[in-house]
Amino acid sequence: MERFYLTTAIDYVNGHPHIGHAYEKILTDIIARHYKKRCDDVYFLTGTDEHGIKIQKTSASKGMTPKELCDENANAFKETWKELEIDYNKFIRTTDDYHEDTVQKIFKKLVDNGDIYKHSYEGLYCNGCECFLNQKDLTEDGLCPNHMTKPEVVSEENYFFRLTKYKEAIIKHIKEHPDFIIPQFRANEVLNQLENIEDISVSRSINNVSWGIPVLDDDEQVIYVWIDALSNYITALGYNPSGESDENFKKYWPADVQVIGKDILKFHSIYWLAILMALDLPLPKHLLAHGWITIDEAKMSKSLGNVIAPVDILKHFELENADALRYYMASSAPCGKDGNYSDIDFKEQVNAHLANSMGNLLNRTLSMLVKYFDGEVKPEFKTNSAILNTAKNTIDIVKDCFDKFEVSEAVNAINNLVDTTNKYVTDNAPWTLAKEEKMTECGQVLTTVLDIMCVIASLIEPYCPNIAKDMAKQLSFDLNTKYDNLTCDNIKCGKLISKEDIKPVFLRVDSELADKSQKKK
Ligand code: MSP
Repeated sequence: MERFYLTTAIDYVNGHPHIGHAYEKILTDIIARHYKKRCDDVYFLTGTDEHGIKIQKTSASKGMTPKELCDENANAFKETWKELEIDYNKFIRTTDDYHEDTVQKIFKKLVDNGDIYKHSYEGLYCNGCECFLNQKDLTEDGLCPNHMTKPEVVSEENYFFRLTKYKEAIIKHIKEHPDFIIPQFRANEVLNQLENIEDISVSRSINNVSWGIPVLDDDEQVIYVWIDALSNYITALGYNPSGESDENFKKYWPADVQVIGKDILKFHSIYWLAILMALDLPLPKHLLAHGWITIDEAKMSKSLGNVIAPVDILKHFELENADALRYYMASSAPCGKDGNYSDIDFKEQVNAHLANSMGNLLNRTLSMLVKYFDGEVKPEFKTNSAILNTAKNTIDIVKDCFDKFEVSEAVNAINNLVDTTNKYVTDNAPWTLAKEEKMTECGQVLTTVLDIMCVIASLIEPYCPNIAKDMAKQLSFDLNTKYDNLTCDNIKCGKLISKEDIKPVFLRVDSELADKSQKKK
């Protein structure tokens, strides 16, 4: 694998980032970090979606210009991603000049090709979705099922995109590529939606929406947000619809995976595919549609007052970095299913897995190595114990999971290895072996565990980069090792560690026993 390009949805900037936005960025960052261990060139794009009626209305209600609101909130997103260690390569804002310029050219190309035409229209517009809805999409009370608001009746002359022209080709693509939409069960939903698709409006009258990219050669219309938004995935790479594209575009497009929420799968699996087909561009290899995060099992909403900002969780639990939150979010739901955040569950999960099972395993093993062998690994401690095969298999299982973008399933595999290793320690009781003066056997058990801990550090690193770094330091293990070169023979013979260099890699959250001063070391 030479290069890997992945993207997230770009977030609306009419508010600040919440835990739902964060979930998606964390998942994508973990996938990016995993693939960095499998190929040399990973490119990760994220950003913000800044045009449309929602931004226009929110900014007006705050007495700000749309651009002022966008600048303020885009910054809040960037700040949050920094706190969460979202290590993207590029952050695109749809108000960036180069993006606006290319979107105008894309639109013009589609008009010139006859894929976009002008048409009078009356429809039901949901400001929350930023799209027209069909009567049959609404609830019994005539509300948008996503936002529970009544759509506005809008009567306009708009530009329309010939979506229907691409219907059969899209159906064929989805049917012939069963792993295009992940999880696969969502593909049926999309195929059902495709049954009744119509051409879609892709512009708005400037009288109704002024905050958008103007259509070239038509002052009366602005480009409808989804053509603007979806194009970000190629404008960010320097796609040029009317000439030579940049090197990045040639190198990275098509995307290996585009990570989005289930609510916007229709836009990506139908509209985006049709736009790419109309531009005669290759299609992304996979769309990963993740589920939604609820808070204490309730849908997050401003009216319920339960919207949680990720940085507030870090502050609340006095966490030094985002590892625990990243770990928790990544394991909160099976691939594509909905997940939930609750303070209590967060505490329980990270304490059980990161502190008790994984952290303690390393800590007590290193402590025994110091106690019995003054921290030294002798050549005769190296074995071919069967459990090393289990560790080796886990590397393959985790890679298989990531081939399918099963981020939480991969965590389960890592946790299984931790549990198996803990059981191995209990079963082999190195403290008893030491008491019986079976020192070689004792050293072998400890060294086997430490060899496995290197594998665990490597596999957990995409989720918990700081914990993994602390583990690797105490194990003198090179975390940059690519998965293809990762073996179960990682610990070098000789003095590994001294007592004063052993430190817990994760302190229990909110524990009175946790010596907070240790964190400062
Ligand atoms: N701007 C559009 C996306 C355009 S992509 C070309 C948009 N923005 S959004 O801010 O509403 O959502 C951004 C992403 O966050 C979407 O993938 C959405 O599914 C995700 N989430 C928003 N709330 C969420 C939860 N409560 N839980 C999980 N993800 C959620 O849609």
